[in-house]
This record gives sequence, C-alpha cells and structure tokens, in this order.
Amino acid sequence: MKKILSVFIVAILIVLIGLYQYSKVEAKKSEAEMTHNILITYYSYSGNTKAVAEKIQKLTGGDLAEIVPVKPYPTGYNDVVSLAKTEKEQNIMPEIKPLNKDVKDYDVIFVGTPVWWYTMASPVKTFLANNNFEGKIIVPFCTHGGGGESATFTDMKKLAPKAEIKNGYSTYERTANEKDAEKWIKSLDL
Ligand SMILES: Cc1cc2nc3c(=O)[nH]c(=O)nc-3n(C[C@H](O)[C@H](O)[C@H](O)COP(=O)(O)O)c2cc1C
Repeated sequence: MKKILSVFIVAILIVLIGLYQYSKVEAKKSEAEMTHNILITYYSYSGNTKAVAEKIQKLTGGDLAEIVPVKPYPTGYNDVVSLAKTEKEQNIMPEIKPLNKDVKDYDVIFVGTPVWWYTMASPVKTFLANNNFEGKIIVPFCTHGGGGESATFTDMKKLAPKAEIKNGYSTYERTANEKDAEKWIKSLDL
C-alpha cells in the first residue's frame, strides 16, 4: 500500500513539474509574439483592398482600421476616375474621418490602398501626411487593375520619410492568395 502511495505521489510530482515547465515555455512564446503591435489600415473604394486587409488581419492577428473619406466618392466609375485624376494632378488630400485606432499605440502599421492613377488613392495620402511615423515600420500593400503597384510604394515612402518601409505586396484586384500573402508576411521578419 505504502509503495503504491509513493509511486502515486512521484507521478503527481512529475506531472506538476511538467505543467510548470510547459507554462514557462508558453509564456515565453507569447512574449515573442507580442514584440510588435500590429495595425492594418486600408482604404478601399470597391472592396478589393478591404478583402486583402482582412486576410492580413487573420494572418497577423493585428487590429484593423479603415481609412474613410469624410466626403464619399461618387458611385459612378467614370466619375470617381475623373475626380481621382484631378486630385492627383492638383495633389489634393481629401479630409478623412478619425481612425478608430491610434497609430501611436502601434509599432508596425500595414497601409493598404487601391492603385489610383499609378499611385496610392488620395485618402491614403491624407492618412500618411496626417500622422507621425517616426520610429515606426510601415508595411505597404495594394491592389491594382493590371498595371501593378506603379509608384504606389515609392510615393508612400515620400509621405512617411521617417518610417522604415518594408517590402510591399501588390496583387491584382481580389486574387490575393493566402499562401503568397503568408510567405510575404513571413519574409518581413516582424
Ligand atoms: C480612380 C481609379 C483609378 C485607377 N487607376 C489604376 C491604375 O493606375 N492602375 C491599375 O492597375 N489599376 C487602376 N485602377 C483599378 C484599381 O486599382 C483596382 O480595381 C483595385 O483593386 C480597386 O481596389 P478597391 O476595390 O479596394 O477600391 C483604378 C481604379 C480607380 C477607381
């Protein structure tokens, strides 16, 4: 009886030590995962960039925040194309609503945009110009209609010169594939 009792006590001790070690490993793991606070911001006129932003959100576990212009763009395609052209030519930065997250609370900020006239959409210009990205990492991404990212990422750098800009990800409309996006995120080494 005594023997059974001591075997039982030793077994319990082994389990308890194992649990203690496991909890220490888990605590270390989540500490490593928390080294960066990630925010995924995006503007999307017709939903493509939003879909990519949501994929990135799932892959990184970051927070999502939509950039919303105060004055909505016209719903007619030709109208928005023509207004966007004027905005680009005159470097107009339309007013945007306050973001539902504060950039100050994050150290990695994904910035997503559709390509408009070979660069980022104007509301994204406003967002970059209105915030201080000193000491932050910006990870750009965009969706386009077949022309690629054009000057989108280099123009982003001009608007946030104090940020470290990581390699961007561009995809044709809504064709972002989870595996490619995952590979890109891993390559960023965040
Ligand atoms: C105003 C406007 C300008 C555009 N300019 C370009 C362009 O220069 N190059 C390109 O490849 N696609 C261009 N497109 C296509 C969009 O970039 C593409 O459809 C994008 O996926 C839309 O994203 P969204 O659904 O998030 O708004 C333009 C679309 C609009 C509405």
